[in-house]
Amino acid sequence: MTPPDHTQPVSIIVLAAGEGTRMKSSLPKVLHPIGGRPMLAHVLAAAGALEPVHTALVLAPGMDDVAATAQTAAPDFQLFIQKPALGTAHAVLAARALIEGFTGDVVILYGDTPLIRPETLKDMVAARRAGAGVVVLGFEAEDPGAYGRLVVEPSGALSAIVEASEADETTRALTLCNSGVMAVDGALLPDLLDAVGNENAKQEYYLTDIVAIANKRGIACVAVEGQEREVLGVNSRAELAQAEGIFQDRMRQAALDGGVTLADPSSVYFSYDTELARDVTVAPHVVFGPGVYVGEGALINAFSHLEGAHIAAQARIGPFARLRPGAEIGEDVHIGNFVEVKKSVIETGAKVNHLSYIGDTFVGAKANIGAGTITCNYDGFDKHRTHIGKGASIGSNNSLIAPVTIGDGAYTGSGSVIRKDVAADALALNDVKQKTFPRWAAKFRARKSKSE
Ligand code: UD1
Ligand code: CA
Repeated sequence: MTPPDHTQPVSIIVLAAGEGTRMKSSLPKVLHPIGGRPMLAHVLAAAGALEPVHTALVLAPGMDDVAATAQTAAPDFQLFIQKPALGTAHAVLAARALIEGFTGDVVILYGDTPLIRPETLKDMVAARRAGAGVVVLGFEAEDPGAYGRLVVEPSGALSAIVEASEADETTRALTLCNSGVMAVDGALLPDLLDAVGNENAKQEYYLTDIVAIANKRGIACVAVEGQEREVLGVNSRAELAQAEGIFQDRMRQAALDGGVTLADPSSVYFSYDTELARDVTVAPHVVFGPGVYVGEGALINAFSHLEGAHIAAQARIGPFARLRPGAEIGEDVHIGNFVEVKKSVIETGAKVNHLSYIGDTFVGAKANIGAGTITCNYDGFDKHRTHIGKGASIGSNNSLIAPVTIGDGAYTGSGSVIRKDVAADALALNDVKQKTFPRWAAKFRARKSKSE
């Protein structure tokens, strides 16, 4: 990646005042997640790569949840409220206080176009600095439909953007479309916006009109061409699913490029922040929720679900394992099938191989947890901790009633309910006498078959 050019400051304006009614959701559109992160946060992260001096977010009144999400993604953003929503040019003007007197580059983005890449934004800013007053990100649309059409002259100059609703047949036949993303010379932007009228089918102030206005004033405009899959706008659940698919493909490719083996990439699902080191192997049908790191050479077997988990080198997870937030899995640890680990540290070489729940627990190095062991950490009010010392051996089918400590090297018998601390190197078991009734089963069956 080329470092940003600091000869001119960049400001960002993200438009997100639209209602998003087609999502049919009580969640604001731009908060719907892709790869475990709200769309808006993706846009702000891409914009952040330009190291902007100002970031403006334009919202409609009452979108407090959206503002709160923006706060975590771009703490220095400035909020502008557009009321009522009279079109995209009107929306940019809502941030007038930010652009008035700003002579750097202004990059305008949409909150519902989450797949835009920093590289593309940098290309646009570079085209701006190469002399164009207005740079528009276009793309060849498979189905141009309702997109604005880019009118490009044989000279390569962009002369106008025509909204589909305003276009004649010839213009509608153009396939190079407007993504909505623009980079504009800040010194020109307020005047260009002020010249935009609303004499059109929707009686809206179209941002797209600034291209024709700039041309009239002798200001050069150009289109930079991107890919449709990068500028997909999300208006419906179907488009959300499509965007998710594109995002997942990107993450899979990045994992493969980074030296990860994916036997069936299409069945592995990533979050925006999934980090896999070299030589990690991921079997089919694995889901990475947010906050997962997997260290070198670790193996994640099929049908495992991981979130908020840190997995050290050479660990083996699954198949059918569930690692929940706060799972700290050490080197060479084995977590086997139908094992759930939450908020627990499992140290180097320890094994929890079968059918267990380990919550709020410390498991020392090389300890072995027998099949079916449950840490009973919750009394209906509070969570309690279990401590299992290094080299300890927990028998199969144990209930460890927290808070409880099992010392280093201690043993517990199979089927034990451990309520009291066990000293290091001790053996603890529940002395429940076994009763055996000879011939009982045979007599029982005989009685049953007679009564049938
Ligand atoms: C817009 C473009 C169109 C382009 C398409 C790409 C205009 C006039 N048209 O059309 O050329 O092909 O995007 O997806 O710009 N918004 C506000 N306030 C408003 C109106 C919109 O903040 O008053 C925001 C929306 O929340 C959204 C973005 O601006 O994030 C785009 O608005 P939308 O109504 O979806 O524009 P389109 O009609 O799709
Ligand atoms: Ca749209």
